[in-house]
Amino acid sequence: MPITIAIDGHSSCGKSTMAKDLARQIGYIYIDSGAMYRCCTLFCIEQGLIREDGTVDVEALEPRMGEINVSFRFNPETGRPDAYLNGENVESRIRTMEVSSYVSPVAAIPFVRKAMTAQQQLMGQKGGIVMDGRDIGTAVFPNAEMKVFVTASPEVRAQRRYDELRAKGDDVSFDEILKNLQERDRIDSTREVAPLRQAPDALVLDNSHLTIEEQKQWLLDRFKEKTGE
Ligand code: CDP
Repeated sequence: MPITIAIDGHSSCGKSTMAKDLARQIGYIYIDSGAMYRCCTLFCIEQGLIREDGTVDVEALEPRMGEINVSFRFNPETGRPDAYLNGENVESRIRTMEVSSYVSPVAAIPFVRKAMTAQQQLMGQKGGIVMDGRDIGTAVFPNAEMKVFVTASPEVRAQRRYDELRAKGDDVSFDEILKNLQERDRIDSTREVAPLRQAPDALVLDNSHLTIEEQKQWLLDRFKEKTGE
């Protein structure tokens, strides 16, 4: 029987990389729940729903939630799924610092969470899924058979995100990334609905000193232990 795997943790700690690789290795579906909140944020930016002072126009967004349709399609070039917003590939546009700077306030809005959580639960109905995010093991799939909580020191996380964005040619500074991820962790952990928390039954991984290969192996070993494969 395919199981449900929930991977939660702090910003930029390499959850997505390990979740995607595990899903590919074991033939499960991978869903990046953060990409869904990033799509909602891109929608807000493009539709002028972010005010001049940087706050979200919540009243204007609520009646328009039905216009936000997020889906994922496998990209054979990268071997990973790309995010689509209303049929358009937005994978690179949702990864910018601009989206990162508004995503936590957008993700804290209760009706946004309600809509995304319902979609995520539908995607995971049949099991056989690896989903990563902030509240997957606590709110989206509280009965997931395998839960992992990932973290690393803020400096290590900022360095990883800096290297990733620089490699893509983005002109970002280390300090702005560090500030952004600390601010997102703060908002994500203190919001009222489904805050970022370690589920009591989660396996904890601090990957500050692990290579991508090592963390990949750690996750695969835990999966084998769980499923007896
Ligand atoms: O990859 P990174 O750690 O930068 O973040 P992400 O997984 O793309 O998530 C972006 C943002 O979406 C987070 O900072 C949260 O504010 C929000 N999020 C959430 O509220 N709940 C989730 N299950 C996933 C993401």
